[in-house]
Amino acid sequence: MTVKEKLAVHAGEIEKYLAECLQNRGIPKRLLDAMDYSLLAGGKRLRPVLVLVWGQMLGAKKEALMPFAASLELIHTYSLIHDDLPAMDDDDLRRGKPSNHKMFGEATAILAGDGLLTEAFGLMAKAEAPAENIVEAISLMAYSAGACGMVGGQDVDMDYTGRDDVSLDELKIMHSMKTGALILSACKSGAVLAKGTGATDDDVRRAEEYGRLIGVAFQIVDDVLDVVGDEASLGKPVGSDEEQGKSTYPNLIGLEESKELARKYVDEAVELLSPYSGPEAELLAELAQYIVDRVY
Ligand code: IPE
Ligand code: IPE
Ligand code: MG
Ligand code: MG
Ligand code: MG
Repeated sequence: MTVKEKLAVHAGEIEKYLAECLQNRGIPKRLLDAMDYSLLAGGKRLRPVLVLVWGQMLGAKKEALMPFAASLELIHTYSLIHDDLPAMDDDDLRRGKPSNHKMFGEATAILAGDGLLTEAFGLMAKAEAPAENIVEAISLMAYSAGACGMVGGQDVDMDYTGRDDVSLDELKIMHSMKTGALILSACKSGAVLAKGTGATDDDVRRAEEYGRLIGVAFQIVDDVLDVVGDEASLGKPVGSDEEQGKSTYPNLIGLEESKELARKYVDEAVELLSPYSGPEAELLAELAQYIVDRVY
């Protein structure tokens, strides 16, 4: 099986869980429609897959991890809805469909994002693992999705928009916050939730470091694809960064050097997997490579 096929098998199971997780909770219909509209619009489901594969490699059961894995997709989807708003990147296409605010209006789009974020924390609490590990994973997620991580990074992104004095170090910090933090904690939370099945502190550290490296590589490639990608495959506009005056890697160091840097990070991430073997370890190595080779 190719890495894309393996990803699709995991994604299929995640899709099923996502399709059910907001139902019959009394969410008002218009808001539920808006939440499901973006949540069930496809997407690679990379973050939940990382939770599952790291956790399973370290002995946890897929069913035990699934609510937590799904919660990352809720948080990620909320971040995309808000990222597309006119006040932020002002993009009209997402996951191959009109952006949430184009369909439901800005007020409902904002609230759909808020709803997804808050529901996500309820889902996290449904993971099956020793309570202290669940608490550790939830507090990690609050840190990395919030003001110290993704939300903070998004504000730095807005602050840097239109500026031409941003250094490479500043850009790297921004990328590691707005995108890297969630990917890092996908990997790390999978390992933390597997502590009850034997994952050690060293395993958790390796998961964190692997996540840190592929997270930054992921956003570098996202910047590259905004220049060289194609709208039909990406399902979102190309050239949006240039139009908005975003600070990006291709802007600062050029396309080729950006790709090389992403590849270097991914190679380092793969090296961290050397203590592991078996299908999950193989998939984690393939996923890291996929991040730089992807066209979507
Ligand atoms: C896009 O993320 C936004 C970033 C953080 C770079 P993805 O490329 O994972 O988007 P989906 O989930 O596949 O739509
Ligand atoms: C967004 O980065 C990262 C998020 C936290 C959503 P981008 O603004 O580059 O993501 P895309 O290209 O719109 O998906
Ligand atoms: Mg953005
Ligand atoms: Mg954007
Ligand atoms: Mg982008």
